[in-house]
Amino acid sequence: MKLAVLPGDGIGKEIVAQAVKVLDVLKKDGASIEMEYANIGGAGYDAEGDPLPETTLKLSKAADAVLLGAVGGPQYDKLDRPLRPERGLLRIRKELNLFANLRPALLYPELAAASSLKPEVVAGLDIMIVRELTGDVYFGQPRGIEIRNGERVGFNTMIYSESEVRRVAHVAFGIAMKRGKRLCSVEKANVLECSELWRDVVAEVAKEYPEVELSTLYVDNAAMQLVKNPKQFDVIVTGNIFGDILSDQASMLSGSIGMLPSASLDANNKGMYEPIHGSAPDIAGRDIANPLATILSVAMMYRYTFADAVTADRIEAAVKKVIAQGYRTGDIWTEGCTKVSCTGMGDAVVAAM
Ligand code: IPM
Ligand code: MG
Repeated sequence: MKLAVLPGDGIGKEIVAQAVKVLDVLKKDGASIEMEYANIGGAGYDAEGDPLPETTLKLSKAADAVLLGAVGGPQYDKLDRPLRPERGLLRIRKELNLFANLRPALLYPELAAASSLKPEVVAGLDIMIVRELTGDVYFGQPRGIEIRNGERVGFNTMIYSESEVRRVAHVAFGIAMKRGKRLCSVEKANVLECSELWRDVVAEVAKEYPEVELSTLYVDNAAMQLVKNPKQFDVIVTGNIFGDILSDQASMLSGSIGMLPSASLDANNKGMYEPIHGSAPDIAGRDIANPLATILSVAMMYRYTFADAVTADRIEAAVKKVIAQGYRTGDIWTEGCTKVSCTGMGDAVVAAM
């Protein structure tokens, strides 16, 4: 299996190094994994003048899967928009056609105290958010900032085609079939035409999945329900911008954004795997970041791209074990637990494997 490894910026390098240690264990046990590193984000700009260098894109296209750390940093905020790290991330998603972004929000029982919600509200939480990843206002044209009537205006276009909605809806229904068979489609159809189309197309696709119970929520209500009674959800499917926001919100239910992995898949389950958090420049280089989201992203890679549930379960079990053993990075630490560094957490997972 060929893996493109793109550590990126900030804590990206530190957390990816821990995930690579997990891959090294699998290699030692006989898995054939070839890893090749490349630059993305600010690292791509610094080394090659482009947040998604041509070589990185080529390598990623040729690979079976991509492991990504994080991109971004304050030193890049003043660059021209196309040169900014985030643009590299958006471009690779688009270029690889990774339209289905799976973001599970799962609470490990031992971390209930680290959640900002009451333990009884989040205990047993297990939600899968399916976020559309290559459309919406993120990519819609026209977009820009220009002068109209003597003042600056900024504008973006929220747009979805039927086929874009249909393909992500199929992914979401498929996942719901393998889980609790309940799917909630989130949009803003009371205001937006784009959402009205989304709702219609999801309802059409639903006819092919009679066993799945489909519900719909407006995004404002969904945001409220997520903190009021998050356990009502099984699978959520939503567009790019709503999914971006709701998945950050859902991460807090699980104790820390440092716990949440993600998979971004194309139509053939080729994927890019990354934690949902960012590059955290404020803590970069201090070896204190939580590597578990990245390690769990490797588990997702095995589950979805390599269709190897045994290995995925093995990695996830190791993470469960270190949490049960009381190892915590700073973001999930509570009284009585053992505080470990990013490296320390990686070592603990390796030992548990
Ligand atoms: C995410 C991030 C990205 C996004 C940023 C870094 C462009 O917030 O993956 O959720 O908005 O998609
Ligand atoms: Mg986000």
